[in-house]
Amino acid sequence: MPDSGKTEKLNTLRDLMVPRGPYNMIPYFIESAKGAIVFDVEGRELIDFSGGIGVLNVGHCHPKVVAAVKDQADKFLHTCFHVLMYEPYLQLARKLCDLTPGSFPKMTMFANSGAEAVENAVKIARYHTRRPAIIVFEHCFHGRTLLTMTMTSKVNPYKLGFGPFAPEVYRMPYAYCYRCPFGLRYPACNTACADYLKEFFINYVAAESTAAIVAEPIAGEGGFITPPPEYFSKLINICHDHGILFVADEIQSGMGRTGKMFAIEHWNVEPDMVTIAKSLAAGMPLSAVVGKKEIINAPHVGGLGGTYGGNPVSCRAALAVLEVFEEENLLQRAERIGIKLKDRLEAWMQKIEIIGDVRGKGTMLALELVKDRETKAPAVEETKALVTYCYEKGLILLSCGNFGNVIRLLMPLVIEDEHLENGLAIMEEGLNRLSK
Ligand SMILES: Cc1ncc(COP(=O)(O)O)c(C=O)c1O
Repeated sequence: MPDSGKTEKLNTLRDLMVPRGPYNMIPYFIESAKGAIVFDVEGRELIDFSGGIGVLNVGHCHPKVVAAVKDQADKFLHTCFHVLMYEPYLQLARKLCDLTPGSFPKMTMFANSGAEAVENAVKIARYHTRRPAIIVFEHCFHGRTLLTMTMTSKVNPYKLGFGPFAPEVYRMPYAYCYRCPFGLRYPACNTACADYLKEFFINYVAAESTAAIVAEPIAGEGGFITPPPEYFSKLINICHDHGILFVADEIQSGMGRTGKMFAIEHWNVEPDMVTIAKSLAAGMPLSAVVGKKEIINAPHVGGLGGTYGGNPVSCRAALAVLEVFEEENLLQRAERIGIKLKDRLEAWMQKIEIIGDVRGKGTMLALELVKDRETKAPAVEETKALVTYCYEKGLILLSCGNFGNVIRLLMPLVIEDEHLENGLAIMEEGLNRLSK
């Protein structure tokens, strides 16, 4: 293993100067990156199956994105949209209105992070409906601010010790078919988990007090949990019967990851609002709320915004990302890689006992690891060991799931076939070792 002593020095500085709260998965420091390959300060080459947690669908440092960032940096870096407007904000708003599902007139506002987008969607939903309550789901993640941490399901590490939490957030079970919260089996269950919303209004919060349901189409941090085909149309129909808005949190599942621009399109439904971040601007901080015009336009002048929201450099980066999607047919590529990956993961499941479930859509695929396929006891230590084995062999791999036993794939969609194959070979060897 290369060792100049630099990594050790930097780790010492990190431990001296940075609190332990912001965790680090891998004890290495990056020097540069391109596509799906990262070089660290020791010259180690790593294949990236994480994309900085789903941010790099167009890859590290795509030349088009870098050129747009440099060009904008030469012109101006900041005005604050509220002080002096600029065209890239408007161009991007228009593009996102066109790209998001829904045949109705839409509008877009920008913020900086995913959590901020979710916060704004909740503000807008409450303002429009004049109702306080928000319904969210078990296993879903929406961020780390007070409101979005409250909305997030997993307690440790996200919520432990950080209460009291924000009021008027209510949590329903999610459509986690592998571990059905109702002990049922799909399709015989007739998606009882969606119908349960009607009972929820009796036992937990009144429909007429509920502003919105906020759901991830595929629960990202929660383990790439993928609801069955009827789930979201059933939920949305119940919502709309009661004047409740449906917000799709596409922060992890959006921007082409599933082979469609937004994952909710797989369910053929039209959300009232969509939150977008992560791969929107390929690493530049940017998030968006796109929604039905009459809803998102409801809050009064000055009611929404922030100093940096829709920063011009980030907007230019995002416009370049959307061009890359078109020019390089990234949606088709996501679908193509997804088919190949799913075949591979399912073949592994035939012979590798520790794999309990393979799920997801497009390239948003995951393996749930279990100690025993009958009891489904989460293989938590084994999952950690696999992640460590992989980075030591040159592959950045991420775990997730409320139990910490899911391996998720978030490689850039531009990954070269050779890098994909090499990464999969490391993963397979690691999985085989766990099963010995
Ligand atoms: C679905 C979802 N919503 C919201 C967030 C929060 O985004 P951010 O970390 O940019 O605040 C994330 C981050 O992982 C996410 O996956």
